[in-house]
Amino acid sequence: MLWLLLLQVWASCLWLGHSEVVNSFSTCSQFFYRGIFPSSALQTNSSALICQRYMNQYFFATLYNTQKRIPVYSAYIYQRGPGDRPAARWMIEPQLVNRTYPKQMETEGALKNMYHISEIQISQSQAINKDYDYQTGWNRGHLNPSGHQNSNVSRTATFTLTNVVPQNSSLNKGAWKSYEQKTVVQRSQNCQATYIIVGAVPGNRTIANGRINIPSHIWSGACCKMNNTMSAWAAIAQNDRNHVDNITLGDLEGRLSRLYNRGPVSLFHSDCPR
Ligand SMILES: *[C@@H]1O[C@H](CO)[C@@H](O)[C@H](O)[C@H]1NC(C)=O
Ligand SMILES: *[C@@H]1O[C@H](CO)[C@@H](O)[C@H](O)[C@H]1NC(C)=O
Ligand SMILES: *[C@@H]1O[C@H](CO)[C@@H](O)[C@H](O)[C@H]1NC(C)=O
Ligand SMILES: *[C@@H]1O[C@H](CO)[C@@H](O)[C@H](O)[C@H]1NC(C)=O
Ligand SMILES: *[C@@H]1O[C@H](CO)[C@@H](O)[C@H](O)[C@H]1NC(C)=O
Ligand SMILES: *[C@@H]1O[C@H](CO)[C@@H](O)[C@H](O)[C@H]1NC(C)=O
Ligand SMILES: *[C@@H]1O[C@H](CO)[C@@H](O)[C@H](O)[C@H]1NC(C)=O
Repeated sequence: MLWLLLLQVWASCLWLGHSEVVNSFSTCSQFFYRGIFPSSALQTNSSALICQRYMNQYFFATLYNTQKRIPVYSAYIYQRGPGDRPAARWMIEPQLVNRTYPKQMETEGALKNMYHISEIQISQSQAINKDYDYQTGWNRGHLNPSGHQNSNVSRTATFTLTNVVPQNSSLNKGAWKSYEQKTVVQRSQNCQATYIIVGAVPGNRTIANGRINIPSHIWSGACCKMNNTMSAWAAIAQNDRNHVDNITLGDLEGRLSRLYNRGPVSLFHSDCPR
């Protein structure tokens, strides 16, 4: 078995030099319970894997749809803590523009200055700030919300446009906020570690002249590790009304399998109760 161990060490060395837009989530597998990623039924031709990096640290993982210019999902560990929502500036993902660019999220302005590129070049593979400006009825809805992070830096890292979708503003400020701030807080009370994946099902409408897809549904699945046992829960909301359904993780996976229609969806390791 020694050769297996050596192979693992060698493989992990190969990963060390890897950039933020990655070929596999191995670089940031810590954000998935027991390193198990959701099934490939959620991926499309135009999915990019992003290990979300800021101030020399990884904070969460995002699967991003570069054609619809919204995330498929963000995966993170729930770590609520005291402190306020930062007044952060929105950032973008440099490596979606060019894989040779830095592996940390940046503001549009900083990237434009560093590489003398235009807004149009940045906007080809991802949403830019302007896409969300002056959109009445639609907010920049975080998938990984800043309120589920425990430090100024980890909260600031959620302010990347690769982590947001156009979300119905009533839902964003109403039932979804209540899900994030009440339901999750309550359900995670006895958890030593809570792994959450929040995603968005692409819809038929767009904002910004067809550039940005408006999801039909926003969903969340969680797996909680307690001292001697495991628990799980899930939620789903239609993006045109202010209501969130509490469902089981098994129900969510079933509904996502039907909504995406690309095969069975599994979000978490089999230890997480369905
Ligand atoms: C994937 O790519 C193929 C070939 O480029 C294309 O025919 C197909 O429609 C794409 N599928 C999706 C889901 O975008
Ligand atoms: C990416 O950036 C490098 C270095 O700045 C440049 O040589 C290359 O042409 C760029 N690639 C694309 C596809 O723009
Ligand atoms: C939080 O982080 C941002 C970005 O790094 C920084 O500009 C701001 O000053 C920080 N705020 C506090 C209270 O530390
Ligand atoms: C969902 O569950 C939470 C508690 O786990 C509860 O407070 C909330 O009212 C429920 N929401 C709905 C719409 O049933
Ligand atoms: C879990 O175990 C820790 C350390 O053994 C203990 O302090 C804590 O109270 C336990 N939590 C629950 C919910 O039993
Ligand atoms: C989107 O359009 C397709 C085809 O017209 C339809 O089958 C589907 O139900 C629509 N989805 C939503 C969320 O309206
Ligand atoms: C958002 O949800 C509210 C509350 O259900 C609804 O009245 C409104 O029409 C929705 N807005 C959009 C843009 O879908």
